[in-house]
Amino acid sequence: MEGVLPSVQEKVRCLVPARTGGYAGGMAPLDLRRRPLKNLRLSVTDRCNLRCNYCMPEESYQWMPRPELLSFEELARVTDVFLGLGVEKVRLTGGEPLLRRNLPRLIRSLAAKGGLRDLALTTNGLLLGDMAGPLKAAGLHRITVSLDTLRPDRFREHTRRDDLARVLGGIQAALDEGLPLKLDTVALRGTNDDELEALLEFAKERGAELRYIEYMDVGGATNWSMDKVISRDEILRRLTRRFGPIEPVRETSSAPATRYRLRDGTVFGIIASTTAPFCATCDRCRVTADGHLFLCLYAKEGLDLRALVRGGATDDEIAQVISGAWAARDNAGAEERLALRERAPLAARRELEANPRLEMHKRGG
Ligand code: GTP
Ligand code: 5AD
Ligand code: SF4
Repeated sequence: MEGVLPSVQEKVRCLVPARTGGYAGGMAPLDLRRRPLKNLRLSVTDRCNLRCNYCMPEESYQWMPRPELLSFEELARVTDVFLGLGVEKVRLTGGEPLLRRNLPRLIRSLAAKGGLRDLALTTNGLLLGDMAGPLKAAGLHRITVSLDTLRPDRFREHTRRDDLARVLGGIQAALDEGLPLKLDTVALRGTNDDELEALLEFAKERGAELRYIEYMDVGGATNWSMDKVISRDEILRRLTRRFGPIEPVRETSSAPATRYRLRDGTVFGIIASTTAPFCATCDRCRVTADGHLFLCLYAKEGLDLRALVRGGATDDEIAQVISGAWAARDNAGAEERLALRERAPLAARRELEANPRLEMHKRGG
């Protein structure tokens, strides 16, 4: 405990801007861009059973040692602190979260918490065939499955695993359980650009909401280049050609997806983080499986919450650190990337090796 608590005080002093008056308990203050803290993304493992080209293109990775991962009890405690600060939505991510053993046990304890309006999970679907039932029974509210192609050969090439049939089986299992389902497709020129329409048909037939995601120059996307990005405008043009007029859904939301409606009523989303970032309304933070808090997908530095949790800090002290960090938050990573004249991957391989928490698969997609 000694050596940690003094640094709690130190961090709080450094991080709480004088003009906020410090942490007085209760909700987190607005950040420097007047954004509230509402949304927590909890990574439960950095391991993955796929190797998608936009996320894990390398041959080998450094994995977090297991003793360094937050236990379910620690994750539940950290979640409680965030709920106390005003967070209403929690999403479990990875790596691939279903690789974390006994995940339904964690979900059961989170689902029982008052104040949690939304409990979701992002998965690649590979293990969902067996897990959809237990996840639903444990109280998961909804699920998002990544699906970039419907062609087995292409799936194998893109993910380096020959497993599309299992993913499709997983999607069906989620539907059979009645879990509300979204499908996330990263639109990649030269990979799946001829499948954008087919993927929307696939989602529509299953009553799932498809979201197209622009390829992002995040940590780990070492093969990224602007010419592989299919922009929101281009996606809309393509879909209009096929499906006719598309209208935006009128709604105000802090969610990254802008939603649209086809003439037949089908609703889909586009997450245009690369060409039209949503930083101005970003109310989210992420915690890595080893307990580091990141205030932006692009942030290079995190805050070690695990040291506080394991070092004897009280819930109030942890809340104070998070609250102070949020009050000082000025991040708008995707906007900064957009302003660059020459865009290239966020980090080269060597930088990722030196700072693995920069990897998208370590901070939850
Ligand atoms: P909903 O709660 O259903 O709206 O989900 P979500 O869109 O918040 O979560 P999901 O895990 O489905 O995220 C979809 C994609 O949006 C991710 O894979 C990322 O590509 C992108 N994304 C998620 N969070 C962020 C973020 O904080 N910043 C940026 N720039 N992109 C993000
Ligand atoms: N660009 C956009 N989305 C990405 N993801 C991972 N890497 C990238 C990237 N470079 C997202 C995918 C996947 C989720 C787990 O992470 O949407 O569905
Ligand atoms: Fe693919 Fe997701 Fe695994 Fe990254 S974490 S390699 S996007 S399945």
